[in-house]
Amino acid sequence: MITDLDIKKKWFDFFTSHGFKRIDSASIIPENDATVLFTTAGMHPLVPYLLGEKHPAGNRLCDVQRCIRTNDIDEVGDDWHLTCFEMLGNWYLGSCPKDEMINLSFEFLTDKKYLGLDKSKLATTVFEGDKTAPRDEEAYAAWKSLGIERVFFLNKHENWWALGSGVGPCGPDSEMFLDTGKPLCNPDCNPSCDCGKYVEIWNDVFMQYKVKEVGKAAELLDNPNIDTGMGLERIVAILNGAKSVYDVGVFKDAIDFLSTKAKVDYTSNDRAKRSYRIIVDHIRAAVFVLGDKRGVVPSNVGQGYILRRFIRRSVNHARNIGLDTSNFDRLIDIFVDKHGVDYPDLAENRATIKEELFKEVEKFSKTLDEGRKEFDKVLISIEKHKEFAAKNGEKVENIISGKAAFRLFDTFGFPLEITKELASERGYTVDEADYNARFIEHQQKSRTAAAGTFKGGLADSSVESAKLHTATHLLHAALQKVLGQEAMQKGSNITPERLRFDFTCDHKMTPAEIKQTEDLVNEVIAKNIPVKCEEMTLDEAKKSGAIGVFEAKYSSKVKVYSIGDFSKEICGGPHANSTGELGHFKIVKEESSSSGVRRIKAVLEK
Ligand code: SER
Repeated sequence: MITDLDIKKKWFDFFTSHGFKRIDSASIIPENDATVLFTTAGMHPLVPYLLGEKHPAGNRLCDVQRCIRTNDIDEVGDDWHLTCFEMLGNWYLGSCPKDEMINLSFEFLTDKKYLGLDKSKLATTVFEGDKTAPRDEEAYAAWKSLGIERVFFLNKHENWWALGSGVGPCGPDSEMFLDTGKPLCNPDCNPSCDCGKYVEIWNDVFMQYKVKEVGKAAELLDNPNIDTGMGLERIVAILNGAKSVYDVGVFKDAIDFLSTKAKVDYTSNDRAKRSYRIIVDHIRAAVFVLGDKRGVVPSNVGQGYILRRFIRRSVNHARNIGLDTSNFDRLIDIFVDKHGVDYPDLAENRATIKEELFKEVEKFSKTLDEGRKEFDKVLISIEKHKEFAAKNGEKVENIISGKAAFRLFDTFGFPLEITKELASERGYTVDEADYNARFIEHQQKSRTAAAGTFKGGLADSSVESAKLHTATHLLHAALQKVLGQEAMQKGSNITPERLRFDFTCDHKMTPAEIKQTEDLVNEVIAKNIPVKCEEMTLDEAKKSGAIGVFEAKYSSKVKVYSIGDFSKEICGGPHANSTGELGHFKIVKEESSSSGVRRIKAVLEK
């Protein structure tokens, strides 16, 4: 059995013997970086140094970084995906000796003293080139000279690395894969295929470029770098011949423990297996987030919202396998005992982790139980309908109507994402377009009830009012980003001096939420984005994801105003031509309007 500790030791032995300095893992919650919620890779905390600042430890570094990535959250539960993982990394700052790095990668992977992998089982990929950067002949030649037979040229989608925000250092990469021995799924099967033949193990990124602003072209970096990253859990699994990251180490311990408590066995079926895996992945992620020295608590915003999803999904999947959530207590101990050694903040915060996690579990459990019962009733009625239809030779699809999904949300507080998850487990889908349409209709109804006939909130059509009207759309979109979808418009009133906006929200907005909302609006203003108006049918508008008032009849056309991809609303106008005209947006008052409804007054300053 090769453990994660063995691999970490080999990693540091190897790289320090080649002159790389060991540095500590940074917090999982990034410092001074508003572009991303979590540290997603080892390079993340190093961005300033990758852009040219001097690192106190020198220009060759190595580490193990705790990371969270949520882009693959729906994949969690298969054999290889995790949201929370540790990444082994090493860097050259200010130089980019590709050949040397590829030689080091090869040595670490194949030398018996280190990973000892069979080189005939390795395959690698390199960048095929496009208008930004040339084909990476140098990396190709380096792999070939080491006797790697399978070196594939792939496109930018596969072999170009950049941060999720699209801004910052970036460049072509060369990825290393292990052939699992499965047959080729088709003659063109290569490492970009997800058939499972190839598992990615390491990525050497040649950071020769940087992007200064979203949408701008990549420019050459004066001092290029190399950034590499290897997922620790994956490599441990592979070296132990395991078929999944969940079959070894702390995940195996956690699943073994849950198996003694849950009513449904881990191996009884795929659905149960997936639930076990999601619980251990998500509770471990929650431990890392809650226990971090910059820890956050569950909320409807930012990291807090992701944390809330981790916990709520775990509670839902515990129900699937007949697991009492009180067992999360021991589960937390398993993770803290294991990781508190390398990350002492987790051990120090053990009590807080438990307290906050269980607060959220309690909050959600009741909603979940009632919602699940209602969900089951929905399925039973569809099944009955199917039987009935079958007798008449008709077929009914496995679709949960938007009406039913919306009722689960509106009456039982049951989140759409859980409805979708339960639906897909039973082979159903949800009519999301119809759900969204009902969501908007509901917004309109409550608004009409609260504010009489709603006329777009515009009392006159002066230039100043038009600007404030555009600002209102930005505010609405920003509130939904900061407070969540629940922040629905209840009413609006605009004069040439100020805007007034009422919306659903269960608490007084905190100063941080107010500031975040202002900042989001001002960012869009600073980008001077044109306000686009399109005419379409109401149905098309709904499908396009527009929010807004539905006064028109189904046949007639409505106007949809959009501001980049930040805001899209059905609305009569008029609006400013472009956000740059607005000036500086400022919230001057946030107060209660009625129960569960808050009111914002805001102005545009010159
Ligand atoms: N940043 C690269 C990655 O995440 C290598 O560390 O794959």
